[in-house]
Amino acid sequence: MKNGKDSEDLTRVGAGTVMGDFMRQYWIPALKSGELKRDGDPVRLMLLGEKLLAFRDTQGRIGVMQHQCPHRCASLFLGRNEEGGIRCTYHGWKFDVEGNCVDMPSVPPAQDFKDKVKAKAYKVAERNGLVWVYMGPRAEPPPLPMVEVTMLPEAQTDIFFIQRQCNWMQALEGDIDTSHFGFLHVGHLEPSLVPSGHPLEHTSEERAPRYHVRDVPWGTSYGAYRAVRDEAGRDTTYWRFSNYMFPFWTQTPQGEFPRHEHARAWVPMDDEHTMFVHLRWRLVDSGMKNLLDPLHDGLPLAGSKPTLDFRPAGTGWFDRFRVVADESNDWLIDREAQRTNRIFSGIDNVHLQDQAVTESMGPITDHSFEHLGPGDLMIARTRRRALQAARSFRETGLAPPGVDTPELFLSSRSGYFVDASGADWQALYDRALTQCLRPAAPTRQESKEAVAT
Ligand code: FES
Ligand SMILES: [Fe+2]
Repeated sequence: MKNGKDSEDLTRVGAGTVMGDFMRQYWIPALKSGELKRDGDPVRLMLLGEKLLAFRDTQGRIGVMQHQCPHRCASLFLGRNEEGGIRCTYHGWKFDVEGNCVDMPSVPPAQDFKDKVKAKAYKVAERNGLVWVYMGPRAEPPPLPMVEVTMLPEAQTDIFFIQRQCNWMQALEGDIDTSHFGFLHVGHLEPSLVPSGHPLEHTSEERAPRYHVRDVPWGTSYGAYRAVRDEAGRDTTYWRFSNYMFPFWTQTPQGEFPRHEHARAWVPMDDEHTMFVHLRWRLVDSGMKNLLDPLHDGLPLAGSKPTLDFRPAGTGWFDRFRVVADESNDWLIDREAQRTNRIFSGIDNVHLQDQAVTESMGPITDHSFEHLGPGDLMIARTRRRALQAARSFRETGLAPPGVDTPELFLSSRSGYFVDASGADWQALYDRALTQCLRPAAPTRQESKEAVAT
């Protein structure tokens, strides 16, 4: 991407930018439900470059609004969350979750003009443990997207938030970058250590997979393939599928396709900070958990420490879900582990390995400096697809893909499987989709109702 304008349009997310306006057409997963308590402390929320305030009122309703008080701009973060609204501590004006000024006690009753004052509040929906915000222009917001895992009961899902200190696109690209896995995460893995049937069996054998890429209605998709012999000695193909879904979602191939019910959002906080939101269906054994299966030496993959250490939660704009490891401490790289090839990267945690390399690119990667190779085809295509969709919205004003057709995302699925039929990759994908273990099919109506409640 040598064109500076392309790079800028892709990475900038503030109001009025090409990508920022595009993303504002979609519902955005912004907080965990548990972050907001009834009448509890308000939370500073940075979203698409806007400084917002989030709070839950006495009735349990959620407000997300500009943090500055419409009177004289004191931050409502300092406000009192009490009796159905947030009250500014400067002159006492009070606002409900929709931004209506409901009390103006510092103005004599005869001159009260609270009906004329409104804080800029966004539409909010809450579903299954996630708080969603709609920052777009419609008075009647679209239905919530039917990203399947977000429609499961909260008790059946694991939801993780982790902040990343870099632009959303370079963070997201780690998920659709198939050739890094064999190096960054498992470069130290000796293939003879991997038992037959282990999730790492094929990625450890061949580290430069070939793959196909295509545009799909929900974004982009790739199928990486490797020739493998099955136990009966037959020639088969090991497939790994992965997806990008508008505007900032991915699905990675680290799980058995039929059981891999998950999704990952790379939500821009601003141009240089991203909130990673990962959801997975707890009832199936899929995804990264499989990587921890023991190898022949009885140990899980070195460098795959299952936990991440977080900083104590703070109240600043960038204090939510920050991990201890960052550039200031070299992401806790262990040079000895790297030198001895105990851990190829020297960093002990798979997520942290991705976090380190993408943050190390700088706050916004310099696209003019890159040299993309054949292994970057999916990345190049996804950049182009996102850019074209965003520019097309700017030019036509027509609703972007999936905004009014939320069921579009139900066709997106990722994971791996072995095929002996030799069929075309797109036909294989369609067939695999029909054989998936899925939760009870959610309906479009439920998606609408979640917004209304
Ligand atoms: S600045 Fe908020 S009430 Fe005056
Ligand atoms: Fe990775």
